[in-house]
Amino acid sequence: TKSPIDLFAAIQELKEEMNAVILAHYYQEPDIQDIADYIGDSLGLSRQAASTDADVIVFAGVHFMAETAKILNHDKLVLLPDLAAGCSLADSCPPEAFAAFKAAHPEHLVISYINCTAEIKAMSDIICTSSNAVEIVRQIPENQPIIFAPDRNLGQYVIQQTGRDLLLWQGSCIVHETFSERKIIQLKAEHPEAEVIAHPECESAVLRHAHYIGSTTALLKYCQQSHAQAFIVATEPGIIHQMQKQQPGKIFIPAPPVSSCACNECPFMRLNTLEKLYWAMRNRTPQINLAESTRLAALKPIQKMLEMSS
Ligand code: 13P
Ligand code: SF4
Repeated sequence: TKSPIDLFAAIQELKEEMNAVILAHYYQEPDIQDIADYIGDSLGLSRQAASTDADVIVFAGVHFMAETAKILNHDKLVLLPDLAAGCSLADSCPPEAFAAFKAAHPEHLVISYINCTAEIKAMSDIICTSSNAVEIVRQIPENQPIIFAPDRNLGQYVIQQTGRDLLLWQGSCIVHETFSERKIIQLKAEHPEAEVIAHPECESAVLRHAHYIGSTTALLKYCQQSHAQAFIVATEPGIIHQMQKQQPGKIFIPAPPVSSCACNECPFMRLNTLEKLYWAMRNRTPQINLAESTRLAALKPIQKMLEMSS
């Protein structure tokens, strides 16, 4: 059906009027990726949010990402097209339970994956993303015990890469835990020329079949550099839009979920639509707002991450 207004043109116009920047994650629907000023992984998005001179940040991603942008920019208006765009991983680490966990291990340094709420960030010493988790853990002295929260799969991957003994919070992402090892093995047999690429939020049973493991940006770069012509992609399939744009001659096969009635799209990311993004800009709502004390406490470990990442 034909849209009564040209949303692309209307958003472009509002962007200029408001001096807004649109930051989008790779798991957003293709139309949103196409209108964004910047598309990236969590580290790239945080860096953009830290350096933008726009007055308004329209964050096309999930709540913790928009919240991170607000933590870095208390004076800017940060809009999220749908406030219900949460994250199962962030939800798997409630602040009260985490405070008790932390109190039970007072000697531990707390490194938290950016996929957590501002309250968890405020209780952390350093934040990390999937692109710098290994690099950051390697910078911590060997004798320093570490709590790693909230993703047990990324934590397990960091343990395997660094040989460190991390105390893991048992959280996970519903999307990355949906991939079926069995179906990936079947796909590999059907496409022996294809390389399996995976996000470290996947379970180790899936990661052990991967030729390459990395953040969304790293996966995208790998597809450009690899000589392989086909890839089995074990992460949210929204990123395939960019993979196909960058490498139109290559084949990208989404890794299938365990059950054929399940879906491998992130139900939270996909709550944002181009229509909601337009309305958010037009009405200057929904906005992300935070108590200043929480913001300041959450800012410290994010700044530490930015200092510690290459
Ligand atoms: P990155 O894009 O930082 O790899 O994160 C993936 C993810 O699951 C975001 O929610
Ligand atoms: Fe959260 Fe997983 Fe969705 Fe990323 S893909 S936003 S980690 S639920």
